[in-house]
Amino acid sequence: MSRAENTRRRLVVGNWKMYGSRAFNAELLSAIQARWQGVHQAEVAVCPPFAYLQQAAELLAKSNIVLGAQSLSEYEEGAFTGEVSARMLADWQCRYVIVGHNERRRLQGETDQRVAKKFIAARDADLIPVLCVGESEQDRDSGKALDTIGRQLSTVIDAAGLESFRRAVVAYEPVWAVGTGKTATPEQAQEVHSFIRAQLGALGQSTRVLYGGSVKPDNAEQLFAKADIDGALLGGASLKAEDFIAICQAAD
Ligand code: 13P
Repeated sequence: MSRAENTRRRLVVGNWKMYGSRAFNAELLSAIQARWQGVHQAEVAVCPPFAYLQQAAELLAKSNIVLGAQSLSEYEEGAFTGEVSARMLADWQCRYVIVGHNERRRLQGETDQRVAKKFIAARDADLIPVLCVGESEQDRDSGKALDTIGRQLSTVIDAAGLESFRRAVVAYEPVWAVGTGKTATPEQAQEVHSFIRAQLGALGQSTRVLYGGSVKPDNAEQLFAKADIDGALLGGASLKAEDFIAICQAAD
């Protein structure tokens, strides 16, 4: 099936992580908006830190750039100090939310089961989860990359049901490629993306699968040329307007 025949609109998501300030964000968003006017084939989203969602929502109100968040609580509401619920994110006009980023799995102890609960919480609030999966360097070196990715994905499929992937996005982010400048080769990424689609069964051809991990303007085009790569989840490159727009243009 060609891209035009399915529902896989290209998508570029900027994950700002814990960077930014009111002044920096205003400058970045204004530079991005100035260069991303009118109608585009690719969809563009930015995920600022929680503290700046309202600022970003206001600045992006009249633009074609959509808002996402970097994480969420698995609970609807309650005594969970420091947490933010799916409903609150929807209230801030978020369309997307990143779930199971490897920094949260590794640094905040998020298990596959907890990631699955967050995915369900996002889905139930009509947010689009961007579910991150990816292997460590050790997994890859020992030939276990697909085992790890298969386990991360199947935990969510078992808990949420395959049907939930009709609206969800999957992002393949090899841990060894995130923030390291080492990108997966287009062939390595393609192999994993095709594996992810096979795991998604009947929905495999319509679910968007993004690649993330040191995507830069000079490698984006080769990655996007692969049949199963529908866009990118960007870290560092999303904080530089020039780089971000160049990658959005490559996806467009
Ligand atoms: P980098 O693009 O900085 O490698 O980060 C990728 C990432 O973690 C996006 O979620």
